Formats: sequence, C-alpha cells, structure tokens
Amino acid sequence: MSTINYSEKIPNNVALSEDKTLQRALEHWQPNYLNWWNDMGPDGSQGFDVYLRTAVSVDPDGWAQFGHVKMPDYRWGIFMNPKEEGRQVNFGEHKGEAAWQDIPGEHRANLRRIIVTQGDTEPASVEQQRHLGLTCPSQYDLRNLFQVNVEEGRHLWAMVYLLHKYFGRDGREEADALLQRNSGDADNPRILQAFNEKTPDWLSFYMFTYFTDRDGKFQLCALAESGFDPLARTTKFMLTEEAHHMFVGESGVSRVIARTCQVMNELKTDDPAKVRAAGVIDLPTIQRYLNFHFSVTIDLFGADESSNAAIFYNTGLKGRYEETKRGDDHRLQGQTYKVLNVQGGALVEREVPMLNALNEVLRDDYIKDSIGGVQRWNKVIEKAGIPFRLQAPHKAFNRKIGTLAGANVAPDGRVLSQAEWVANEKNWLPSAEDRAFVASLMGRVTDPGKFAGWIAPPVMGINRQPVDFEYVRFN
Ligand SMILES: [Fe+2]
Ligand SMILES: [Fe+2]
Repeated sequence: MSTINYSEKIPNNVALSEDKTLQRALEHWQPNYLNWWNDMGPDGSQGFDVYLRTAVSVDPDGWAQFGHVKMPDYRWGIFMNPKEEGRQVNFGEHKGEAAWQDIPGEHRANLRRIIVTQGDTEPASVEQQRHLGLTCPSQYDLRNLFQVNVEEGRHLWAMVYLLHKYFGRDGREEADALLQRNSGDADNPRILQAFNEKTPDWLSFYMFTYFTDRDGKFQLCALAESGFDPLARTTKFMLTEEAHHMFVGESGVSRVIARTCQVMNELKTDDPAKVRAAGVIDLPTIQRYLNFHFSVTIDLFGADESSNAAIFYNTGLKGRYEETKRGDDHRLQGQTYKVLNVQGGALVEREVPMLNALNEVLRDDYIKDSIGGVQRWNKVIEKAGIPFRLQAPHKAFNRKIGTLAGANVAPDGRVLSQAEWVANEKNWLPSAEDRAFVASLMGRVTDPGKFAGWIAPPVMGINRQPVDFEYVRFN
C-alpha cells in the first residue's frame, strides 16, 4: 500500500486497476486535466526541465524522489495514507462507530460540497500564479513555484479521485466543473473569494504561500479527522506535500526582509522613499501586504456562526484541528465559544453555542499558528538592529465575511468611522502605488546562483543541492 504503482497511466496506491470502470472514467478525465494544465498552468514553461520532487511512496521517511522533469510529464496520481485498522469516527453524534469506508447516504450532499470546495482551491492557486515564472527572482525560486504548482495539481487529483469513486455521475460532473471554473473569471469564478484575487508579484506569492496555503493546512487537518475514512487518508497525504508550500512562503518573506534590512543598514536610513530608490521593498509596504493576505485568508474560514459547521461536526464529516489530541468530550453539546461583534462603536465578545462557532474555533487556531512566522520574521529585523516590528492585524480588520464584514476596524482593533477608515486605508492595505512599485522590481533572473536585488539568497538549496544548482534547464 505504501509503494506507488508507476507502471499505470495514472500512478496510484489505491489499486485502481482492480476497478476498471473507475479507471476508465479517470483516464477519460486525465486529458482534460492536461489540457487545463497547458492552458492555465505555468505560462511559457512547458518545455523546461525542472528539478521536482515526485511522491514515490506514502512512508513518512523517503516518500519523495527528485529529478529534472518537464512539467506536463509530471506523474500526477492518486496517493493515500495507509488504512489504520480499527479507526473510528472520533467526534460528533456518531463518535465510537467504525469509520466509514463508504459514504453514508444521508451525508452525501454535505460531503460532496466539502470535497468540491477543497478541490476548487487547488487548481485556482495554479491559475493565480501562472504568470509569476516570467518574473522569477532566481532559478531556485522558479523551481519552488513550479513545485508548489505541480503539487496543487496533484491535490486536485486527490479530490477528483474521491468524487469519481464515491459520487457516481454527480461526482464526475463536479470533477469536470473543477476544470471549467477559473480564478477571477467574471462568469465562472472559483468558489472562494481569496482564490479569485490576483497573485501579481512575488511578494504576493510568498505571502499567499505563507498565509493561504496555511489555511489549506488547517482545512486539511480538519478533514484528516473525518469519519469518512478515504477523505481522512487522502488529506493526510496532502498535508505531507503542503509543508513545503508554507516553507516557500515563510522563507521567501524572510529573505525579502533580510535584503531590505541589509540595504537600510548600508544606507543608514529608514525612509521608505530612500529604501525604494535603492531597489528594495520598504518594511511598511511589507506590513501592508501582510495585512492584506492575513485578512483575506482568515475570511476563508467562513462565517463566525454557521449551522453548516455544526452539521459537518455533528455528523462526523469535518473535525477540529488536532481533534483527537483534545481532552474534551468531542461532542460539544451545551458548550459555548466567544465570537466578536461590533456594538455601539466597540468590539464586544458574545458567547454562542460552540458547535455553531466551529469556523471561529478553526480560525483562532489558524491565527495562533500564523503569528509564529511573523515573530520569526521580526527576529530577522531585530538581528539587523532595526527597531521596526511587523504585526498580524486584529482579526476584525478588513473582514468581508461573518458578523465583522464591513465593520471599519483598524489593524490594532480600534473601531473607526467610515471617514477615519477612508483616510487611513492606504496606510494599512497595499495601494495601487505600492503594487506598482513592487511590480516595478519584478525582473527575470535565471542565471544559476544569481538573485534579484530585492531578495536575499536562501541559506541552502533544495534537497541538499547547492544554491547555484541548475534547478531549471530552459532548453
Ligand atoms: Fe493544496
Ligand atoms: Fe499548497
């Protein structure tokens, strides 16, 4: 089970060849996927040989192998963690029952919705990032972008397999629709708003992979607890791949900061105009990008009170982050949780039934985790002897979903009038000028070991290769 069969058209460890109907249906979807990759995947890069990792097993030790491949030849496939004998539904009203190997009829519609929503984000991010290769700051970074892209493509495969295997004709139709919606498309957009935003420059890309791929981590962790065992096993393996995506984001932002601080110290200035004139991104602009990506991403967790969240939990479909490590009763009936509202010009806490607040519970767990990286970024600034500190904004800042949607709240949590918001918005969120400035720095650097002037080199290369390794052969 842990070794992957690469002799078949679709690599897999799910014994695909034993179910000919399913195998044929997926082999029919495969060329449509490749067409989508050619049309919507990384722009102008189909002929490059890229030093990519490919999953060869689902064993935690040595699950991947590295080598140069052309991306359209990447072996996308279907990989699941091994089955745990005796696994149970670990929360909700079915707690203690054997985990489901098939979909209980009454949960079919909800499960389909969960899988489709997760599946839709995977190709969406590839679409959002498709032009970034044209302005890569180095070969190392270009390779990392492509690695993230091919793995998001594989995550789509993971969800499509579940749709085809367990949802019959509806599932096949949903799988087709996943290739038809497009990020930012006016008529047929992706399901979630953050996946319709542009990722126009590399600072946005690093922020996205730090913050938004981390949302992916939390959603996958919640689904890895599912009572529907195939979903749990699939998402567990997806998490193995996801760690690298967040590394790309965290180390990317960190390298941008390191380079900025170096130039600030050389010039002995903290004047953003002088810093920009020297060709690096000033720290206040980095803060505004952080504010944007943080706030857009925490909206992805959904409304703070949600009857769907309660249903998904009660019925054993979607758990909490680290559900089985928690010491409570895993049913949560009669328990409460605090959510925020704006009342009379102030933020006030309100106790609501915890089952209805599970989106908020997951959002709060996410916020705790994402703040860790902000602190590590601050260490870089501190080490450079610069007094500036980055900060994650208040969770009520710039919200578009839930009871806080549309409230005017400053990054420090002060509730503002509309006029105060309008007067300050450009200090808190990237303005058109900020974006134009960052865009102006985006050149294309492709010599091995060379880096654009606005970013520091990484400390080490990928898979113990040197930093100046030929990660991409342009042919
Ligand atoms: Fe993903
Ligand atoms: Fe990801």
